[in-house]
Amino acid sequence: MIDVHCHVIPGVDDGSPDLETSLALLRMAVDCGTTDLICTPHVLEAGRGLAWDTITEKTKELQAEADRAHIPIRLYPGAELEFNAELADILEEGTGRYCLAGSRYPLIELPALSMPTHIDDFLYDLQVRGFVPVIAHAERHSPLMHEPERLLRWMQQGVLVQTNSGSITGMFGEEVAARAKRLIENHMTCFLGSDAHRVKIRNTDMTEAVGALRSMAGAGYAEDILEDNPRRILKNQPISWDVPEKMKEEKKKGFFAKLFG
Ligand SMILES: [Fe+2]
Repeated sequence: MIDVHCHVIPGVDDGSPDLETSLALLRMAVDCGTTDLICTPHVLEAGRGLAWDTITEKTKELQAEADRAHIPIRLYPGAELEFNAELADILEEGTGRYCLAGSRYPLIELPALSMPTHIDDFLYDLQVRGFVPVIAHAERHSPLMHEPERLLRWMQQGVLVQTNSGSITGMFGEEVAARAKRLIENHMTCFLGSDAHRVKIRNTDMTEAVGALRSMAGAGYAEDILEDNPRRILKNQPISWDVPEKMKEEKKKGFFAKLFG
């Protein structure tokens, strides 16, 4: 399977602090069945933060270290792009710069506590320019999850969604786990990422999440998420995604269930 979101390059963001941690994370990834992994360090200030050339260089260096340590995994450069006004300027059509594995798919993180005013236009304009935006861990974004129909509308227009393995397993709380489940049940997530930062917690072991995903989504849809869709990113091929016209009715908890959990 393919992990599309991981902070495994040492010393460039708040992810892996050193090579030893990075190699431990890569071993853990291989042990859970990951064959390919996209390195997605935070790019916080478009144009002023981490440079794409640095990311590609550091990815090559880490690949060389993994090969030396006999860890059988293929690494690709990528970025987790914090949304801001300048972001559109650093994405250049046809170059793959700052996109997942140098493709047409940028991984975009929305601001934690707010919904940018011009986000609809921003996403539309990117698509007009030939990009396919991927929303990073949509289930963790509270403002968006309070209006999931908006996410559905974006997806109907071609935007794709990545979910974190830790969201599925409850690492970010019950509410986020419920949102992840709802996205999966509505065919509204397209990729899984570990979003790993450290060895002890938020690591690259996706075993539990993959088991839960397979039982929630069924084998075919799980295979799309874990292998087929991300493989298309690696090859920079289009992904056609069947998005529902309408989300299924949310199952509301009854009074007693709410009271007694
Ligand atoms: Fe991340």
